[in-house]
Formats: sequence, C-alpha cells, structure tokens
Amino acid sequence: MMTDTMTDFARLAEDIAREAGDMLLAKRPTMSVASADVLTKSSPTDVVTLLDKASEELIRQRIAAVRPDDRVLGEEGGEAPGDSDVRWVVDPIDGTVNFLYGLPDWAVSIAVEVNGRVVAGAVNVAPRGEMFTAALGEGAWLDGERLRCNPAVPLGQALVATGFGYDSARRAVQAQVLASVLPRVRDIRRGGSCAADLCSVASGRVDAYYERGVNYWDYAAGGLVASEAGARIGGLGGRPSNSEFMLCAAPGLFADLHDLLAPLDPERD
Ligand code: IPD
Ligand code: CA
Ligand code: CA
Repeated sequence: MMTDTMTDFARLAEDIAREAGDMLLAKRPTMSVASADVLTKSSPTDVVTLLDKASEELIRQRIAAVRPDDRVLGEEGGEAPGDSDVRWVVDPIDGTVNFLYGLPDWAVSIAVEVNGRVVAGAVNVAPRGEMFTAALGEGAWLDGERLRCNPAVPLGQALVATGFGYDSARRAVQAQVLASVLPRVRDIRRGGSCAADLCSVASGRVDAYYERGVNYWDYAAGGLVASEAGARIGGLGGRPSNSEFMLCAAPGLFADLHDLLAPLDPERD
C-alpha cells in the first residue's frame, strides 16, 4: 500500500491509533486503583508498564507491515532506524496516571514526519471515544468535524491548561510559575495528557496550554492538530516548540501569555 499524501498518512495514523486504543480499552485495569491498599502493591503500575509496551509494539508492527522502511521513534522503544524520509513519532499512552486511575484523559498519539517535519497526526482519546486528526495544510478534525481554536481573549478571560513533570525539583519551579499565572487568568486546568491538552486548544475546550519539559512524542501529533486548528505553537523568545517549554494558543493570546511567562523564567530547574 502506498501512502504518500498527508491525508493518507493521517488516515493510516488514525487506523493504527484506533486499534491501539481499542486494545488498551479492552485490557486496562478494571479495579479502582485509587485506594491506598492497592497503590501499595506494585501490580497496577506493572500492568500499565506492560500495556505501554504492548501498545507501542502493536503500533510498530502495524507501521512495519505497510511501511517497512520508515523510522519509528517511540517513548518506550526509542528510535528504530530505517532508510526512508518518513519517521513516525509515537506515545503509546499519553496520560499514564489517568490510565492507571481510570480517568478519561489519556490518549494514543501518533505523528508522521517527512524530512523532519510533522505532516500528519492522530490523537485517539480512547476513553472518550474521540479521534483527533490533522494533515499539514489541510486542517484538523475531531471525528471528521473541522476544528477551529477559540479566537484570542484577554488574559483575564483565558482558561489555561498546563501540566507538571515527574521530577520534584522541577515541580517546585512549576508551582512558583503557576502561582504568578493563576491570579492573571480565568482559571487553570491540569488534564494529565499533553496530547489531549493540545487537542483541547484545537477544539476550543481551553484557550491555551503551556508546559515545561514535555517530550517530542507528547506533542508531535497534538501540536499539528492545534496549529491546523489555527493556534500558534512555539517556545519562549521566538524559538520553535521544544522540550524546554511549549506554549499554544490563538495568536493574540499566545503573545500575552508569552509576555506573562517569559519574565518568570519557567525553563529553570
Ligand atoms: C505525561 C503527560 C502529562 C504531562 C507530562 C507527560 P506520560 O506523559 O503528557 O500531561 O504533564 O509532562 O510526561 O508520562 O503520561 O506519557
Ligand atoms: Ca507522554
Ligand atoms: Ca507515555
């Protein structure tokens, strides 16, 4: 099967993300893990680790079956070499803690790069039954419906999503930054999945998203969904979006939020 247009890549990413999401829905831990009793045992976390790996393995197999020369970068398995100009960027479960606790904001995220540029993406927020897709220059969709992000609002009216890393020292800085942002905006949301957060900007469920320290596989697909929905996505000081810091919002709000965040030096640890 030849898949050489951006829409074809988006469809293939969607098909594979759907299959991985269905597998995860079928196999996710059913017991509540919120009780201290269960959390003291290692098994729920082990199950999640195994399912992270199983999801990525399924995705790698499906890609290899139809595009055997492509490279794949996945959170669990790292970079697999290949001869083609195409690289797939995979987070097999984005929002692992939500997955563990039975919360509905987790996603399978698959992006397709050609010559280093993301051209297609699919974010399957499986527990919500929502499939976000995007193709470069062609648009972003939620279950086939075209997406537009919210127009820019004044900072004080902006609902802003963010997230926190796993490292304690980094979290202390993130909390300091948040303490300066919270009084200046409508409110803050911490959804627990970077990919889903970016899709929330795309679909107008939040006005903006920022986070320090996300990985490329967290935002590769969701970033395209957001930018194809009209949002601006980037780092601080005019840098492109990167793992140090990323900000996503309608262009006017992006500028205001950037100017609030930049003096707070959110990239420090
Ligand atoms: C995490 C989620 C979370 C974000 C963290 C990520 P994971 O990914 O995207 O929302 O705040 O920075 O590491 O570990 O669930 O794949
Ligand atoms: Ca992730
Ligand atoms: Ca993950």
